[in-house]
Amino acid sequence: MNLSKAKIEAKKLTNELNKHNHLYYVENNPTISDYDFDMLLKRLQELESQFPELADENSPTKRVGGDITKKFETVVHKYPMLSLSNTYSEEEIEEWVTRVKKQVEDDLEYVCELKYDGVAIGIQYVNGRLKQAVTRGDGSQGENVTSNVKTIRTIPLTLKGDFPDDFEIRGEIFFPLNNFQKLNEQKREAGEQEFANPRNTASGTLKMQDSKVVAERGLDCYLYGVYGTGDLRDGHFETVQKVADWGFKIPSEQKRFIEKTNSIDGVMDFIHYWSEERGNLPFEIDGIVIKVNKYHKQEELGYTAKSPRWAISYKFKTERVETTLQEVTYQVGRTGAITPVANLEAVQLGGTTVKRASLYNADQIAKLDLHENDRVFVEKGGEIIPKIVGVNLDVRAKDAKKIDFIHECPECKTELVREEGEAHHYCPNEKGCPTQIKGRIEHFISRKAMNIDGIGAETVDALVEAKLIENYADLYTLTFDEIYDLERMADKSANNLLKGVEVSKNQPFSKVLFGLGIRFVGETVAKKLVKSLKNIDNLMNASFDQLIEIDEIGDRIAESILAFFEDEENKVIVARLKSYGLVFEIEEKENSSSKFEGKSFVVSGVFTAFSRNELKELIEINGGKNVGSISKKTNYVVAGDKMGPSKLQKATDLGITILSEDDFIALLNE
Ligand code: IVH
Repeated sequence: MNLSKAKIEAKKLTNELNKHNHLYYVENNPTISDYDFDMLLKRLQELESQFPELADENSPTKRVGGDITKKFETVVHKYPMLSLSNTYSEEEIEEWVTRVKKQVEDDLEYVCELKYDGVAIGIQYVNGRLKQAVTRGDGSQGENVTSNVKTIRTIPLTLKGDFPDDFEIRGEIFFPLNNFQKLNEQKREAGEQEFANPRNTASGTLKMQDSKVVAERGLDCYLYGVYGTGDLRDGHFETVQKVADWGFKIPSEQKRFIEKTNSIDGVMDFIHYWSEERGNLPFEIDGIVIKVNKYHKQEELGYTAKSPRWAISYKFKTERVETTLQEVTYQVGRTGAITPVANLEAVQLGGTTVKRASLYNADQIAKLDLHENDRVFVEKGGEIIPKIVGVNLDVRAKDAKKIDFIHECPECKTELVREEGEAHHYCPNEKGCPTQIKGRIEHFISRKAMNIDGIGAETVDALVEAKLIENYADLYTLTFDEIYDLERMADKSANNLLKGVEVSKNQPFSKVLFGLGIRFVGETVAKKLVKSLKNIDNLMNASFDQLIEIDEIGDRIAESILAFFEDEENKVIVARLKSYGLVFEIEEKENSSSKFEGKSFVVSGVFTAFSRNELKELIEINGGKNVGSISKKTNYVVAGDKMGPSKLQKATDLGITILSEDDFIALLNE
């Protein structure tokens, strides 16, 4: 084989592998076996070693440990990750205290902490740099999820102060409730299945293959244990306070997340306080952890096979109430997705009156095996809307009728469809179903899309009912007289509406695109499309293959985009919107800052959390300039692994600041 033939084959293999990487990791929908994938990869590796000229920084053969990792490596824990013995009863806490006192002399100090409901993580620091982060796994070995953990902003990548050379810090990674709700909002907007609870979603997110997605989701971490620091301090509480000096976010004493007490009364107070207050925390906790403070006493108490004798957790009973299911109703979303809702006999739960619970989809109803008038158990999770977690079968009437999912759209009576592999049933009557028509317009005017002030859902209803508008493009041809004639529309409101419509013409392209309401094109996807394709014509002319080449765009999204623009009516609407002056191309400055204004960068080597191109992009959108080679004028060199030694030498000789990937991220976030 000669070089030019090898080049052609390598290019083909690269394209194939990139496509399958995407299908596997992003789409979760592999179309070839792991074996076949590995064979393609092996062939490319062979070609690259035979013809070193072919080796490319961005070859799929290099995608290890970076933003895409095929599998997480298994790592044996230096210190086993044990669990905690737990109890739901205060009496058993008192018994534990008695046992502890029996074994070690009196005058004990206890530390009370919140028991964060997330995923345990062990993070090793060597010479002040985050070396690796490993999940609990089976307690003796876990998975290396370093690149994902590095995206959590509250975990320092480099330390300050007088830290030990090599130690491990343990904590809990969790999903802050506001970010969890935001994520589900995005899922809802894109017509996708929502996540059930913050804990499982945190765990799933931590094991995602694409660390960029992890970064966007906004996980957080609280630290609760330090290992290998020698006799830095003589107690757990003091050590945790100390590590704050090195840059860690620790549970705050002021807010009583962590408290030292030397009496059982103090422990009980802490438990009672948080039993009441936990609903006001911005994250979920499932209990309280009580630890003996002094290390020498911990040693004396020792361990059982599974857990330390010096600690115990008091677990809160999840508040659960029983009530009667009165009726299941069905909501139609703007994309036609049908969401069943349980209407309940009003009941008090966690300080609020609950009358409705989400049932998500047909599978959920089937899983619960819901029957009419069932007595159901309701719990509140991280979501505002509570959920039904089970049925009291003991009191179900013998002749109770099973709840069958509806077959027709409750609004327009069209027969529903459910595509294979999809969670939701859909009403396919996109053009005629009044709820979908109104829903699309409401979505278009919503804050995150066109942000049109002066119109609410009621006005949209009235405008549609009065046949003044049939789609969102019609908003731009409304006249004062038409609106004024609507019932209850005063002078001022009509003017506000017109003003809001006019102002919306300045919304950036990504918001307009999101506003169009293309199924599966949520806020994030819209931004990716805009960034990559720049204007609506490129988007409308893009082929399936071009679309799936774009970061995070998979088959399903690509098909939905193609279908949207194949529809003649949609084309007309877009053309009209264009003619009214809406923005249909990227304004270069979207998302930018001038942080690196006037600074020039050389990016060289292989990186872990970002690819080289991503780093360069970050530099550009923040006002900096990427230059190819190092000169006196270069301000920074961002140096990754495998950067050539002569380049590094040149940068050092010229006295240019050399940044590691972590330093760069720190500089960006400063
Ligand atoms: S101490 C030797 N403190 O609860 C055990 N654990 O079953 C050291 N957790 O896997 C754990 N908050 O992930 C400790 N303040 C806290 C905690 C906590 C949550 C989790 C941890 C562990 C599980 C124990």
